[in-house]
Amino acid sequence: MSNQFTRNIIITGGAGFIGNHVVRLFVNKYPEYKIINLDKLTYAGNLANLKDIEDKPNYKFVKMDICDFDGVLKLMQDEHVDGIIHLAAESHVDRSIKDPFTFAQTNVMGTLSLLQAAKAYWESQPVPYQISIFNSKFSIPCRFYHISTDEVYGALEMTHPDGIEPPFTTKASSGKHHLAYGEKFFTEDLKYQPHSPYSAAKASSDHFVRAFHDTFGLPTIVTNCSNNYGPYQFPEKLIPLFINNIRHRKPLPVYGKGENVRDWLYVEDHARAIDLIFHKGKIAETYNIGGFNEWKNIDIIKVLIQTVDKALGRVKLETTETGETIETYPDMALITYVTDRAGHDLRYAIDSSKLQRELGWEPSLQFEEGIEKTVRWYLDNQAWMDNVTSGDYMKYYEEMYDNR
Ligand code: NAD
Ligand code: TYD
Repeated sequence: MSNQFTRNIIITGGAGFIGNHVVRLFVNKYPEYKIINLDKLTYAGNLANLKDIEDKPNYKFVKMDICDFDGVLKLMQDEHVDGIIHLAAESHVDRSIKDPFTFAQTNVMGTLSLLQAAKAYWESQPVPYQISIFNSKFSIPCRFYHISTDEVYGALEMTHPDGIEPPFTTKASSGKHHLAYGEKFFTEDLKYQPHSPYSAAKASSDHFVRAFHDTFGLPTIVTNCSNNYGPYQFPEKLIPLFINNIRHRKPLPVYGKGENVRDWLYVEDHARAIDLIFHKGKIAETYNIGGFNEWKNIDIIKVLIQTVDKALGRVKLETTETGETIETYPDMALITYVTDRAGHDLRYAIDSSKLQRELGWEPSLQFEEGIEKTVRWYLDNQAWMDNVTSGDYMKYYEEMYDNR
């Protein structure tokens, strides 16, 4: 090693939503590691997300496109990189429906460029080092860790539209909300059946990562995670978009009937899982990461309205005919049903019991607590929200939602 650090790790997409939480966790927890945040800074990347750690001696930001193979290879050589945690991607399904090319370019070609660079650099190392990487001995813990989504598995049936109380077929975590809307879950051995251009591109990138292990012995790991929520998420995704709209009393565009089900995980719990798997996960393995926390969109939206209205003092007290005083939430009137998303997946539900069993991970936060924290964060950080919704955001919003 050429510097004082014990490891030199590239985290791609570190200026994005999940990436900034992973970068922050690694920079603070491992002062002995050098953390290199490689990000192109697309509309979704924002260095303001990392203000609190940008001056740390073990942190470096490099503005680069993952598709730039020469640039990535040189960076790996210059920084003696022995680990890659790959999050950079185009990540929004609605955008992928409008512009699939960008998704194939970044998610597939970009991942391939990183894989090729890692292979070329690690193969160029002295023979003992190479043997330890490629012969499965792994005394030098080089890792190519690819972060993916549960959306690659396609959609699950909703066999129980009213929900089933636990226990399920999986061991549920300690949360309160455990309704499952079907008997089946996504397990690691399920066939890939992506439906959106986003999930098709992610699925393809997952296949390339596994192919580089199987063909070249590259030490890869893949994880597939459910929907994340929490601070610093770009307000094109359901939760931050709706919190911002409620705050401004703008209509809340619910796709279809709002019956689609997603499994939600607090973003810091995902970052904790990534830390654990990067260090303790087995090479060539896949781990599913999820919250055991299924919600219909419309139910989440109601929770969001209640939470924001409470925080902003908008709750009204009404007396019923029987004389009972009840709380009402005026912003429920903002709910607006709009044309459904094309190819809208009905239900996602991760079974993360393998990760629980083998590495002892489970979600730490209950959803009610996570949503409370999340709403509070967006309301307390209005300058952040106002900043990311200035500029091109209004144009995007009009294109996506006007006349929908
Ligand atoms: P995001 O859209 O918030 O951030 C993506 C980041 O990647 C941005 O900082 C952007 O600037 C950067 N980026 C995009 N194209 C790039 C390129 N060509 N070169 C370099 N950097 C580039 O995404 P996110 O929600 O943080 O998701 C991160 C990863 O996690 C993605 O791979 C996504 O598929 C996966 N994932 C996300 C979720 C979720 O709920 N958000 C769930 C499971 C998996
Ligand atoms: P999103 O946050 O885009 O994540 P994903 O599509 O990757 O699951 O959407 C979450 C759910 O919310 C999804 O079922 C689509 C729905 N949705 C709406 O109803 N209205 C909206 O404006 C958005 C952005 C999403």
